[in-house]
Amino acid sequence: MRFITAILGAALALSGGCNGVNILMGNDDGFGSGNLRQLYEMLTNAGHNVYIVAPALPQSGQGGRVDFTTEANLTGPAQYNLVPAGAPSVGPDPVDSHIWYYNGTPAACIFVGLDYVLPNFADFKVPDLVLTGPNYGTNLGPFVWTLSGTAGAAYAATARSIPAIALSGSNKAVAYFDVNSTADDAFRVAAVSFKIVESIIKSAPSANAILPLGYGVNVNIPPLFDNYTTVPIIQTRMTGGAEVDEAIPGKTPGTFTWANLSPRALGVNRCLNGDCSLPGETDVVAQGKISLSLYTVDYTAPATPETKSVMRRFAFFTGGKQGHGGKRGLRSWRA
Ligand SMILES: *[C@@H]1O[C@H](CO)[C@@H](O)[C@H](O)[C@H]1NC(C)=O
Ligand SMILES: *[C@@H]1O[C@H](CO)[C@@H](O)[C@H](O)[C@H]1NC(C)=O
Ligand SMILES: *[C@@H]1O[C@H](CO)[C@@H](O)[C@H](O)[C@H]1NC(C)=O
Repeated sequence: MRFITAILGAALALSGGCNGVNILMGNDDGFGSGNLRQLYEMLTNAGHNVYIVAPALPQSGQGGRVDFTTEANLTGPAQYNLVPAGAPSVGPDPVDSHIWYYNGTPAACIFVGLDYVLPNFADFKVPDLVLTGPNYGTNLGPFVWTLSGTAGAAYAATARSIPAIALSGSNKAVAYFDVNSTADDAFRVAAVSFKIVESIIKSAPSANAILPLGYGVNVNIPPLFDNYTTVPIIQTRMTGGAEVDEAIPGKTPGTFTWANLSPRALGVNRCLNGDCSLPGETDVVAQGKISLSLYTVDYTAPATPETKSVMRRFAFFTGGKQGHGGKRGLRSWRA
Protein backbone atom coordinates (compact mmCIF):
# COMPACT_ATOMS: atom_id res chain seq x y z
CA MET A 1 0.00 0.00 0.00
CA ARG A 2 2.74 2.39 0.97
CA PHE A 3 4.31 2.32 -2.50
CA ILE A 4 1.09 3.38 -4.22
CA THR A 5 0.73 6.50 -2.12
CA ALA A 6 4.46 7.13 -2.46
CA ILE A 7 4.07 7.35 -6.22
CA LEU A 8 0.99 9.57 -5.97
CA GLY A 9 2.68 11.77 -3.37
CA ALA A 10 5.87 12.14 -5.38
CA ALA A 11 3.93 13.05 -8.52
CA LEU A 12 1.93 15.71 -6.68
CA ALA A 13 4.99 17.01 -4.85
CA LEU A 14 6.74 17.57 -8.19
CA SER A 15 3.72 19.18 -9.79
CA GLY A 16 3.64 22.08 -7.31
CA GLY A 17 6.30 24.24 -5.72
CA CYS A 18 5.01 23.65 -2.22
CA ASN A 19 7.41 23.54 0.69
CA GLY A 20 6.51 21.11 3.42
CA VAL A 21 4.48 22.46 6.32
CA ASN A 22 4.10 21.15 9.87
CA ILE A 23 0.82 19.34 10.35
CA LEU A 24 -0.97 17.77 13.32
CA MET A 25 -3.68 15.28 12.41
CA GLY A 26 -6.47 13.96 14.61
CA ASN A 27 -9.84 12.28 14.20
CA ASP A 28 -12.68 10.68 16.14
CA ASP A 29 -12.60 7.24 14.52
CA GLY A 30 -9.39 6.14 16.21
CA PHE A 31 -5.67 6.15 15.41
CA GLY A 32 -5.96 2.95 13.34
CA SER A 33 -8.38 4.50 10.85
CA GLY A 34 -7.74 3.72 7.19
CA ASN A 35 -8.92 7.17 6.12
CA LEU A 36 -6.63 8.91 8.61
CA ARG A 37 -3.50 6.93 7.75
CA GLN A 38 -4.02 7.07 4.00
CA LEU A 39 -4.11 10.86 4.14
CA TYR A 40 -1.15 10.87 6.56
CA GLU A 41 0.91 8.84 4.07
CA MET A 42 0.01 11.05 1.12
CA LEU A 43 0.91 14.24 3.04
CA THR A 44 4.15 12.74 4.38
CA ASN A 45 5.14 11.49 0.94
CA ALA A 46 4.45 14.96 -0.46
CA GLY A 47 7.09 16.39 1.88
CA HIS A 48 5.00 17.62 4.80
CA ASN A 49 6.08 16.97 8.39
CA VAL A 50 3.04 15.21 9.82
CA TYR A 51 2.20 13.90 13.27
CA ILE A 52 -0.99 12.11 14.31
CA VAL A 53 -2.47 12.25 17.81
CA ALA A 54 -5.78 10.42 17.71
CA PRO A 55 -8.05 8.49 20.08
CA ALA A 56 -6.94 5.04 21.24
CA LEU A 57 -10.51 3.85 20.55
CA PRO A 58 -13.36 5.27 18.41
CA GLN A 59 -14.83 8.46 19.91
CA SER A 60 -17.57 9.52 17.49
CA GLY A 61 -20.24 11.99 18.56
CA GLN A 62 -18.16 13.65 21.25
CA GLY A 63 -18.30 17.10 19.68
CA GLY A 64 -15.80 19.46 21.34
CA ARG A 65 -15.95 17.65 24.70
CA VAL A 66 -12.52 17.59 26.34
CA ASP A 67 -12.14 14.45 28.42
CA PHE A 68 -8.73 13.45 29.74
CA THR A 69 -8.50 9.94 31.15
CA THR A 70 -7.62 9.55 34.83
CA GLU A 71 -6.06 6.14 34.07
CA ALA A 72 -2.29 6.06 33.57
CA ASN A 73 -2.58 2.94 31.42
CA LEU A 74 -5.05 1.50 28.95
CA THR A 75 -7.58 -0.76 30.71
CA GLY A 76 -8.18 -2.67 27.44
CA PRO A 77 -6.36 -3.00 24.13
CA ALA A 78 -6.28 -0.02 21.77
CA GLN A 79 -8.10 -0.06 18.42
CA TYR A 80 -7.48 -3.24 16.36
CA ASN A 81 -5.19 -4.49 19.17
CA LEU A 82 -2.49 -2.15 17.87
CA VAL A 83 -1.38 -1.54 21.47
CA PRO A 84 -2.04 -4.03 24.33
CA ALA A 85 -4.02 -3.41 27.52
CA GLY A 86 -1.80 -2.03 30.27
CA ALA A 87 0.26 0.13 27.92
CA PRO A 88 0.46 3.85 28.86
CA SER A 89 -2.66 5.93 28.08
CA VAL A 90 -0.58 7.97 25.63
CA GLY A 91 2.11 6.61 23.37
CA PRO A 92 3.44 6.12 19.85
CA ASP A 93 2.24 3.51 17.41
CA PRO A 94 4.58 0.48 17.60
CA VAL A 95 5.66 0.88 13.96
CA ASP A 96 5.59 4.68 13.34
CA SER A 97 6.95 7.24 15.82
CA HIS A 98 4.95 10.05 14.15
CA ILE A 99 1.65 8.33 14.97
CA TRP A 100 0.40 8.64 18.56
CA TYR A 101 -2.68 7.42 20.37
CA TYR A 102 -4.24 8.96 23.46
CA ASN A 103 -7.11 7.57 25.49
CA GLY A 104 -9.30 10.68 25.36
CA THR A 105 -11.87 12.54 23.29
CA PRO A 106 -10.96 13.99 19.86
CA ALA A 107 -10.55 17.54 21.24
CA ALA A 108 -8.50 16.21 24.20
CA CYS A 109 -6.21 14.44 21.69
CA ILE A 110 -5.57 17.75 19.93
CA PHE A 111 -4.60 19.38 23.23
CA VAL A 112 -2.39 16.42 24.21
CA GLY A 113 -0.81 16.76 20.77
CA LEU A 114 -0.22 20.51 21.10
CA ASP A 115 0.90 20.47 24.73
CA TYR A 116 2.69 17.14 25.15
CA VAL A 117 3.48 15.13 22.02
CA LEU A 118 4.70 17.89 19.68
CA PRO A 119 6.77 19.86 22.26
CA ASN A 120 8.47 16.69 23.52
CA PHE A 121 8.70 14.36 20.55
CA ALA A 122 8.53 16.41 17.34
CA ASP A 123 10.93 18.89 15.74
CA PHE A 124 8.26 21.60 15.89
CA LYS A 125 6.05 22.80 18.73
CA VAL A 126 3.20 24.63 16.98
CA PRO A 127 1.76 23.12 13.79
CA ASP A 128 1.00 25.30 10.78
CA LEU A 129 -2.20 23.36 10.26
CA VAL A 130 -4.44 20.88 12.04
CA LEU A 131 -6.41 18.31 10.03
CA THR A 132 -9.19 16.18 11.49
CA GLY A 133 -10.44 13.07 9.75
CA PRO A 134 -11.27 12.16 7.09
CA ASN A 135 -14.25 10.94 9.09
CA TYR A 136 -16.30 7.90 8.17
CA GLY A 137 -19.58 9.66 7.35
CA THR A 138 -20.40 13.25 6.52
CA ASN A 139 -20.72 16.11 9.02
CA LEU A 140 -23.25 18.40 7.37
CA GLY A 141 -25.03 21.46 8.72
CA PRO A 142 -24.89 23.49 11.95
CA PHE A 143 -26.62 20.80 14.01
CA VAL A 144 -24.07 18.05 13.42
CA TRP A 145 -21.23 20.57 13.68
CA THR A 146 -21.57 20.76 17.46
CA LEU A 147 -21.96 16.97 17.85
CA SER A 148 -19.18 15.76 15.59
CA GLY A 149 -15.87 14.76 17.13
CA THR A 150 -14.22 15.56 13.78
CA ALA A 151 -15.62 19.09 14.05
CA GLY A 152 -14.85 19.31 17.78
CA ALA A 153 -11.18 18.49 17.24
CA ALA A 154 -11.03 21.10 14.46
CA TYR A 155 -12.59 23.95 16.40
CA ALA A 156 -10.45 23.06 19.44
CA ALA A 157 -7.41 23.77 17.23
CA THR A 158 -8.96 26.93 15.79
CA ALA A 159 -9.59 28.16 19.34
CA ARG A 160 -5.87 27.59 20.01
CA SER A 161 -5.06 29.95 17.10
CA ILE A 162 -4.16 27.15 14.68
CA PRO A 163 -5.89 26.90 11.29
CA ALA A 164 -7.87 23.69 10.99
CA ILE A 165 -9.61 21.71 8.28
CA ALA A 166 -12.29 19.17 9.22
CA LEU A 167 -12.62 16.44 6.56
CA SER A 168 -15.49 13.96 6.27
CA GLY A 169 -16.10 11.23 3.73
CA SER A 170 -19.06 8.95 3.05
CA ASN A 171 -17.26 5.61 3.34
CA LYS A 172 -17.44 2.84 5.93
CA ALA A 173 -14.89 2.18 8.66
CA VAL A 174 -11.78 0.29 7.53
CA ALA A 175 -8.61 -0.57 9.44
CA TYR A 176 -5.53 1.03 7.94
CA PHE A 177 -3.97 -2.40 7.30
CA ASP A 178 -7.03 -3.47 5.26
CA VAL A 179 -6.67 -0.69 2.67
CA ASN A 180 -5.28 -2.72 -0.22
CA SER A 181 -5.58 -0.72 -3.40
CA THR A 182 -6.28 2.62 -5.01
CA ALA A 183 -9.79 1.35 -5.71
CA ASP A 184 -10.59 1.28 -1.97
CA ASP A 185 -12.89 3.99 -0.64
CA ALA A 186 -10.38 5.01 2.04
CA PHE A 187 -7.77 5.67 -0.65
CA ARG A 188 -10.20 7.74 -2.71
CA VAL A 189 -11.44 9.78 0.25
CA ALA A 190 -7.83 10.44 1.28
CA ALA A 191 -6.79 11.35 -2.28
CA VAL A 192 -9.60 13.88 -2.59
CA SER A 193 -8.80 15.27 0.88
CA PHE A 194 -5.12 15.47 -0.05
CA LYS A 195 -5.88 17.48 -3.19
CA ILE A 196 -8.00 19.95 -1.22
CA VAL A 197 -5.49 20.31 1.63
CA GLU A 198 -2.60 20.80 -0.82
CA SER A 199 -4.55 23.44 -2.71
CA ILE A 200 -5.37 25.33 0.49
CA ILE A 201 -1.72 25.20 1.62
CA LYS A 202 -0.40 26.28 -1.78
CA SER A 203 -2.83 29.20 -2.03
CA ALA A 204 -1.71 30.57 1.38
CA PRO A 205 0.55 33.64 1.55
CA SER A 206 2.87 31.73 3.90
CA ALA A 207 3.06 28.52 5.93
CA ASN A 208 2.13 30.36 9.12
CA ALA A 209 -0.90 32.06 7.55
CA ILE A 210 -2.79 29.18 5.99
CA LEU A 211 -6.07 30.66 7.26
CA PRO A 212 -6.90 33.89 9.11
CA LEU A 213 -7.00 33.71 12.93
CA GLY A 214 -10.23 32.13 14.17
CA TYR A 215 -11.12 30.59 10.79
CA GLY A 216 -11.36 26.97 9.74
CA VAL A 217 -12.69 24.87 6.89
CA ASN A 218 -15.31 22.12 6.85
CA VAL A 219 -15.04 19.70 3.91
CA ASN A 220 -17.62 17.00 3.15
CA ILE A 221 -17.14 14.34 0.49
CA PRO A 222 -19.99 12.35 -1.11
CA PRO A 223 -19.76 8.65 -2.01
CA LEU A 224 -16.92 8.32 -4.54
CA PHE A 225 -16.79 6.23 -7.72
CA ASP A 226 -14.16 5.54 -10.39
CA ASN A 227 -14.51 9.15 -11.56
CA TYR A 228 -13.57 10.50 -8.10
CA THR A 229 -10.82 12.77 -9.39
CA THR A 230 -13.39 14.77 -11.39
CA VAL A 231 -15.95 15.42 -8.61
CA PRO A 232 -16.50 19.19 -8.38
CA ILE A 233 -15.59 21.10 -5.20
CA ILE A 234 -18.23 23.70 -4.37
CA GLN A 235 -17.98 26.63 -1.94
CA THR A 236 -20.87 26.29 0.49
CA ARG A 237 -22.45 27.62 3.66
CA MET A 238 -23.33 25.39 6.61
CA THR A 239 -27.00 26.35 6.60
CA GLY A 240 -29.33 25.33 3.77
CA GLY A 241 -30.93 21.89 3.49
CA ALA A 242 -29.46 20.89 6.86
CA GLU A 243 -31.12 18.25 8.99
CA VAL A 244 -31.74 18.19 12.72
CA ASP A 245 -32.90 15.38 14.97
CA GLU A 246 -36.34 14.74 16.37
CA ALA A 247 -37.36 12.33 19.14
CA ILE A 248 -39.37 9.32 17.94
CA PRO A 249 -41.21 7.34 20.66
CA GLY A 250 -39.87 3.80 21.04
CA LYS A 251 -41.96 0.64 21.55
CA THR A 252 -41.49 0.84 25.33
CA PRO A 253 -43.24 3.92 26.75
CA GLY A 254 -40.72 6.50 27.95
CA THR A 255 -38.08 5.43 25.45
CA PHE A 256 -37.18 7.36 22.35
CA THR A 257 -35.01 7.09 19.32
CA TRP A 258 -33.92 9.75 16.86
CA ALA A 259 -34.76 10.50 13.28
CA ASN A 260 -33.84 13.25 10.89
CA LEU A 261 -36.56 15.90 10.93
CA SER A 262 -38.55 16.10 7.74
CA PRO A 263 -39.53 18.60 6.44
CA ARG A 264 -36.27 20.14 7.52
CA ALA A 265 -36.21 22.63 10.38
CA LEU A 266 -36.25 26.34 9.58
CA GLY A 267 -34.18 27.32 12.61
CA VAL A 268 -31.04 25.51 11.59
CA ASN A 269 -31.41 26.55 7.95
CA ARG A 270 -31.78 30.27 8.29
CA CYS A 271 -28.70 31.94 6.78
CA LEU A 272 -27.44 34.46 9.34
CA ASN A 273 -23.72 34.51 8.65
CA GLY A 274 -21.60 34.37 5.54
CA ASP A 275 -22.58 34.62 1.90
CA CYS A 276 -26.23 33.57 1.77
CA SER A 277 -26.10 33.17 -2.02
CA LEU A 278 -23.89 30.07 -1.56
CA PRO A 279 -25.62 26.67 -1.67
CA GLY A 280 -26.01 24.70 1.57
CA GLU A 281 -23.39 21.99 2.12
CA THR A 282 -26.08 19.34 2.77
CA ASP A 283 -27.69 19.92 -0.64
CA VAL A 284 -24.33 20.00 -2.45
CA VAL A 285 -23.19 16.66 -1.03
CA ALA A 286 -26.63 15.15 -1.82
CA GLN A 287 -25.90 16.11 -5.45
CA GLY A 288 -22.69 14.08 -5.36
CA LYS A 289 -20.36 17.09 -5.11
CA ILE A 290 -17.77 18.05 -2.50
CA SER A 291 -18.72 20.91 -0.16
CA LEU A 292 -16.25 23.38 1.30
CA SER A 293 -17.55 25.73 4.01
CA LEU A 294 -15.57 28.29 5.98
CA TYR A 295 -16.28 28.43 9.70
CA THR A 296 -15.28 30.79 12.47
CA VAL A 297 -15.22 30.19 16.20
CA ASP A 298 -17.10 33.46 16.82
CA TYR A 299 -20.66 32.29 17.39
CA THR A 300 -21.94 35.75 18.33
CA ALA A 301 -24.99 36.87 16.34
CA PRO A 302 -24.02 39.15 13.44
CA ALA A 303 -24.63 42.91 13.74
CA THR A 304 -27.89 42.94 11.78
CA PRO A 305 -30.84 45.28 12.47
CA GLU A 306 -32.57 42.32 14.17
CA THR A 307 -29.62 41.75 16.53
CA LYS A 308 -29.53 45.48 17.32
CA SER A 309 -33.24 45.51 18.02
CA VAL A 310 -32.95 42.59 20.44
CA MET A 311 -29.92 44.18 22.10
CA ARG A 312 -31.92 47.39 22.58
CA ARG A 313 -34.60 45.39 24.42
CA PHE A 314 -31.92 43.74 26.54
CA ALA A 315 -30.46 47.16 27.36
CA PHE A 316 -32.77 47.01 30.40
CA PHE A 317 -30.17 44.84 32.07
CA THR A 318 -27.39 47.31 31.46
CA GLY A 319 -29.15 50.33 32.95
CA GLY A 320 -30.53 51.62 29.66
CA LYS A 321 -27.14 51.57 27.94
CA GLN A 322 -26.34 49.21 25.12
CA GLY A 323 -23.03 47.40 25.63
CA HIS A 324 -21.09 46.83 28.83
CA GLY A 325 -23.11 47.61 31.94
CA GLY A 326 -20.45 46.75 34.51
CA LYS A 327 -21.58 46.93 38.14
CA ARG A 328 -24.60 49.01 37.27
CA GLY A 329 -25.88 46.31 34.92
CA LEU A 330 -25.37 43.70 37.61
CA ARG A 331 -27.42 45.74 40.10
CA SER A 332 -30.32 46.11 37.66
CA TRP A 333 -30.25 42.36 37.13
CA ARG A 334 -30.36 41.71 40.87
CA ALA A 335 -33.13 44.25 41.32
C1 LIG B 1 1.27 1.42 33.94
O1 LIG B 1 2.17 0.67 33.18
C2 LIG B 1 3.52 0.82 33.53
C3 LIG B 1 4.36 0.06 32.54
O2 LIG B 1 4.12 0.51 31.25
C4 LIG B 1 3.74 0.34 34.95
O3 LIG B 1 5.09 0.58 35.34
C5 LIG B 1 2.79 1.06 35.88
O4 LIG B 1 2.87 0.51 37.18
C6 LIG B 1 1.36 0.99 35.39
N1 LIG B 1 0.53 1.85 36.21
C7 LIG B 1 -0.65 1.47 36.71
C8 LIG B 1 -1.38 2.48 37.53
O5 LIG B 1 -1.12 0.38 36.48
C1 LIG C 1 -7.99 -6.10 1.92
O1 LIG C 1 -7.54 -7.44 2.00
C2 LIG C 1 -7.86 -8.11 3.22
C3 LIG C 1 -7.18 -9.47 3.19
O2 LIG C 1 -7.45 -10.13 2.02
C4 LIG C 1 -9.36 -8.20 3.38
O3 LIG C 1 -9.70 -8.82 4.59
C5 LIG C 1 -9.95 -6.79 3.36
O4 LIG C 1 -11.35 -6.84 3.42
C6 LIG C 1 -9.50 -6.05 2.10
N1 LIG C 1 -9.92 -4.66 2.20
C7 LIG C 1 -10.85 -4.10 1.45
C8 LIG C 1 -11.16 -2.67 1.73
O5 LIG C 1 -11.43 -4.69 0.57
C1 LIG D 1 -19.38 9.75 -11.36
O1 LIG D 1 -19.95 8.48 -11.44
C2 LIG D 1 -21.17 8.31 -10.73
C3 LIG D 1 -21.56 6.84 -10.76
O2 LIG D 1 -21.50 6.34 -12.05
C4 LIG D 1 -22.21 9.23 -11.31
O3 LIG D 1 -23.44 9.11 -10.59
C5 LIG D 1 -21.73 10.67 -11.21
O4 LIG D 1 -22.62 11.57 -11.80
C6 LIG D 1 -20.34 10.83 -11.83
N1 LIG D 1 -19.83 12.14 -11.45
C7 LIG D 1 -19.14 12.91 -12.30
C8 LIG D 1 -18.67 14.20 -11.76
O5 LIG D 1 -18.90 12.58 -13.45
